[in-house]
Amino acid sequence: MIEQYRITLLPGDGIGSEIMAVAVDVLELVGKQHQLEFTFESALIGGAAIDETGEPLPAETLEACRRSDAVLLAAIGGYKWDNLPRSQRPETGLLGLRSGLGLFANLRPATILPQLIDASSLKKEVVEGVDIMVVRELTGGVYFGKPKGIFETETGEQRGVNTMAYTASEIDRIAKVGFETAQKRKGRLCSVDKANVLDVSQLWRDRIEAMATNYPNVELSHLYVDNAAMQLVRAPKQFDTIVTGNLFGDILSDAAAMLTGSIGMLPSASLGEAGSPGVFEPVHGSAPDIAGQDKANPLAQVLSVAMMLRYGLNQPQAANKIATAVTKVLDLGYRTGDIMSSGMTDVGCKGMGEALIKVLEE
Ligand code: IPM
Ligand code: MG
Repeated sequence: MIEQYRITLLPGDGIGSEIMAVAVDVLELVGKQHQLEFTFESALIGGAAIDETGEPLPAETLEACRRSDAVLLAAIGGYKWDNLPRSQRPETGLLGLRSGLGLFANLRPATILPQLIDASSLKKEVVEGVDIMVVRELTGGVYFGKPKGIFETETGEQRGVNTMAYTASEIDRIAKVGFETAQKRKGRLCSVDKANVLDVSQLWRDRIEAMATNYPNVELSHLYVDNAAMQLVRAPKQFDTIVTGNLFGDILSDAAAMLTGSIGMLPSASLGEAGSPGVFEPVHGSAPDIAGQDKANPLAQVLSVAMMLRYGLNQPQAANKIATAVTKVLDLGYRTGDIMSSGMTDVGCKGMGEALIKVLEE
């Protein structure tokens, strides 16, 4: 029987459309091989949407996402839109998509591929074998807490305010994702907070502790965020799964990504309640400096397709097929500029796509 899925494509800005084209080719081919049929609808987000409609997340885009089974996003932003007021910036479109689809759980893997180990800025023996999953809460915390804004005090001084807040239920649902993710991996979960200073973190820690009784087979630890940042760079292999709030997760996932030295290789998944569409996107940005030049590395976008198949559409075999193909093209020596090293074959975005298709057809 053929399974059918509706996918919304959000190429966004910069290199987005180039890497998306490769990802769609790969998805269609792997789909054929696994009896999966996809229908695609493209929609605007970010700068492209601002230029066309004046807003970074048009209502039609959110509606298209809502009626699909999964959303594949490339990247948003660029110099052109950097100086617009906050409500019209590309980032606001991304935050609107996250809250509009209720995407409270963000999975960001940071895996060192043996073929690219020299790309890391850390010593080989420190990073060899690193395989971390950061589970970041994505629709709460200081990003969305109220009150927020720039107000005037009684003395007429300006005062900027954001609020870091989590309800117990918001913590519980992300804790669950954290424990379940750890369970499927090596069974170790490190919760990161700032409970020595912040009340919101104390509640976070209490709820995580309470949840741990449901997962006796998961080994739980806690770290303060400053220490976690230090440990990530000092001895990253101690980590398996990390669960943390929105802002800490933003920062730590960038640090974890950089352990690999190849941000062009890292995918992510943003998930809501079961049955609602997730958003799958590379960790890297829109790279406006190389847009339109066939230089972008499409592999993070392709691995985002694999995450979509695994976490969004429950098609692990098709997901594995893609992950294996990516390993294979690296083994064959194909490299885009960002991961190039001596003796390897330099290819562009399209060339990498062709290499992938060839491997997948074998
Ligand atoms: C990320 C980005 C976003 C965030 C920005 C672009 C709004 O840094 O996805 O990590 O802060 O969440
Ligand atoms: Mg970030």
